[in-house]
Amino acid sequence: MVVLGIETTCDETAAAVVERHDDGPGKILSNIVLSQVNEHAAFGGVVPEIAARAHVEALDRIVGKAVADAGKTFANIDGVAAAAGPGLIGGVIVGLTTAKAIALVNAKPLIAVNHLEAHALTARLTDAVPFPYCLFLASGGHTQIVAVRGVGNYTRLGTTIDDAIGEAFDKTAKLLGLGYPGGPQVEKEAERGNPVRFVLPRPMFGRPEADFSLSGLKTALRLEAEKIAPLTDQDVADLCASFQQAVVESVLDRLRAGLRIFRENYGAPNALVAAGGVASNQAIRKALHRIAFETGTVLVAPPPALCTDNGAMIAWAGAERLAHGLTDPLDTAPRARWPLDEVAGPKAPTPSYFSRSQTGLGI
Ligand code: KG4
Ligand code: ZN
Repeated sequence: MVVLGIETTCDETAAAVVERHDDGPGKILSNIVLSQVNEHAAFGGVVPEIAARAHVEALDRIVGKAVADAGKTFANIDGVAAAAGPGLIGGVIVGLTTAKAIALVNAKPLIAVNHLEAHALTARLTDAVPFPYCLFLASGGHTQIVAVRGVGNYTRLGTTIDDAIGEAFDKTAKLLGLGYPGGPQVEKEAERGNPVRFVLPRPMFGRPEADFSLSGLKTALRLEAEKIAPLTDQDVADLCASFQQAVVESVLDRLRAGLRIFRENYGAPNALVAAGGVASNQAIRKALHRIAFETGTVLVAPPPALCTDNGAMIAWAGAERLAHGLTDPLDTAPRARWPLDEVAGPKAPTPSYFSRSQTGLGI
């Protein structure tokens, strides 16, 4: 099965073609990502209107290239998937409308994919991880621990009560005058910094539920920076290292709680799976390896290019849904907000109330 996937929920215009077989990992036939980072850099964050316009300008070309690079035409793909949310609504409309047009003109099924579901299923594209597994999703907009038990079967075990981890990295970078997006810049500075110079809080530490909180950490960092301003290069590096260390320790503690809740409810997970842009941070990856080892499971972390937003993850989620016959009508609405646990899955088989075994009548 070959599916085209389109991603336009934030500041990447992306399209990809992915092949799925009934078992084993998927095969990425093409994967084109155009980052809008330069368009937004001057504003220190993503400007929704600029993002939507940039998607309109680039998407036709990106889709054409993805299909051509895969050695396919629209005629020989099996389905068209697009991220239908959650995300910036202008961009979502651009991607979903384009997918609908391609599906309609070529008489192909449309699959309206939840962007978070696509992150959640990427580890099956790369590593064919069997269900159930525990997902740690950390991006610019989301920080969640999720029990992934099947396609369309997601239970959120923990989430952030304020900022997402990526957002905290971005705000830290902005505060310290580093560029956008902040995560990679903070990571780079942290490499030459002293992680124990500043005493920063580890919010929610030791709490039994698996939720995160990041805004107190961000505020504490700002207060430390204000105390010693003007900042030298070494101050910036030390603040970044101390911040990253606090995030790493919080992630470890919150995942310990999340994995415990997972086990109590669903037994041992087949893996701890990392997804989202923050999962490309090497210090966080190391911490994830540690927690997986400690809890007797394995870490599956897709390569950084598949952790950040891309079209291959949308195409793959589309293929997984299509394999279950889950397609969507052409009047499907884009959704700015769409929690992962509201994603529909395959219908449970209709119970047969009068089966032979149940009636005991031998009929
Ligand atoms: O998943 P993603 O590409 O987009 C969504 O938000 O959906 O994640 C982007 C986020 C940004 O906040 C960015 O700063 C963060 O991931 N990020 C990182 C790193 N690379 C990207 N955060 C920490 N360390 C990194 N190396
Ligand atoms: Zn994302």
